[in-house]
Amino acid sequence: MNADLASSPFENVAAQDLDPTAAGAAALDGIDPLAGLRARFHIPRDRTGREVAYFVGNSLGLQPKAARGIVEEVLDAWETRAVDGHFDGERPWYPYHEQVRDELATLVGGLPHEVVAMNSLTVNLHLLLMTFHRPEGERRLILMEDGAFPSDTYAVTSHVAARGGDPERDVVRIAPRPGEDLLRTEDIEARIAELGDRLSTVMLGGVNFRTGQLLDLEAIVRAGHAVGATVGFDLAHAAGNVPLRLHDLDVDYAAWCSYKYLNAGPGAIAGAFVHERHARDLDLPRFAGWWGNDPATRFRMHLEDTFVPVPTAEAWQLSNPPVLAIAPLIASLDVFMEAGMSNLRAKSRVLTGFLHACLRESLPDDASIVTPSNAEARGCQLTVRVEGDARARFERLADHGVIADFRPPDLIRLAPVPLYSTFADCLRAAEALRND
Ligand SMILES: Cc1ncc(COP(=O)(O)O)c(C=O)c1O
Repeated sequence: MNADLASSPFENVAAQDLDPTAAGAAALDGIDPLAGLRARFHIPRDRTGREVAYFVGNSLGLQPKAARGIVEEVLDAWETRAVDGHFDGERPWYPYHEQVRDELATLVGGLPHEVVAMNSLTVNLHLLLMTFHRPEGERRLILMEDGAFPSDTYAVTSHVAARGGDPERDVVRIAPRPGEDLLRTEDIEARIAELGDRLSTVMLGGVNFRTGQLLDLEAIVRAGHAVGATVGFDLAHAAGNVPLRLHDLDVDYAAWCSYKYLNAGPGAIAGAFVHERHARDLDLPRFAGWWGNDPATRFRMHLEDTFVPVPTAEAWQLSNPPVLAIAPLIASLDVFMEAGMSNLRAKSRVLTGFLHACLRESLPDDASIVTPSNAEARGCQLTVRVEGDARARFERLADHGVIADFRPPDLIRLAPVPLYSTFADCLRAAEALRND
């Protein structure tokens, strides 16, 4: 199995053929060419010593077994080489962010010089808004989704206020239609067209953290560009979950974290994408720091103190790379590159489809699936709404060794991750939710 695997056996599995039974799970686990990848991760165990069914890779991905060695390599270099670790050794620290650049670019569909590993996600959103939200005259609105992840809302509203705008007036939030949970593409397009030349930038979550809905990025970029706005995405729930084509879709900017589907550990380094059209424009407004400066003059700071941005996404870097926050990501990306994103997506479609089928069989009357039933409009996460005592039902999952997450008041999120989740895990989760 490798990234070039010609075709995945899962490509021939149709949703209507899924058999939500133990035999059905065993058959699918039996044909899974990626099954061996599970052994590359540490799987926590429940009270009885059994491996848990882990459905919260959308919150914190599991630890790749190779991560410890790469972190220890950094600690060893620090212990033995100290400051020389910046330039010596197999993975010197000075260009350490480059260790993950090409692989991240592959995962998000960017060119290597359009991608940079830096900071954390919310920080990157601010840095990118600094460049891509350019309020001028009537054009000063930012479109985001109602009920976005709170940090995005705080980032956008505080950003607008800090730059002299009025968040009440300048931040426009789009919501699903009354009585619906999901955004309709035609509604987003219509809203963008209506805002027209008053729209400065669109900043939406590529995959919604609550509902698991995958937006039609292509349509949104087209609509935004048609009115002269820039278009960016928070890809926290999309990177490593669904294949992305940021360069080809002409996305202007994007940011994501790597502790979820990218399995890089708590507080790990985030990523950012800046389309080369912009990265080459050295006159763009931005916050600058020495690591965004041309390396040729970076260390001549007291002699040449004019900022000369590198013509790549790295120009948005402020500081030297947080090496220990990047190290585990190297281990995880190795597994992604070996598997190949298209193979992972092929499995993911069937895995989540199987969970969907199991839930349809076993969900009690007071529960329903919020996430789109169309596999093209979701990643791996399914969100279940429970009308009754949702917390009690969530706790029942934990009693069965199923680790899910609860979004009060009524949502349970389950994310089977193709790198390490099994079809048997999906059946186990559905049975634990059953009303008996
Ligand atoms: C959609 C989304 N945006 C922003 C964040 C905040 O990320 P960070 O703490 O890395 O800034 C998260 C974290 O889970 C998220 O899911």
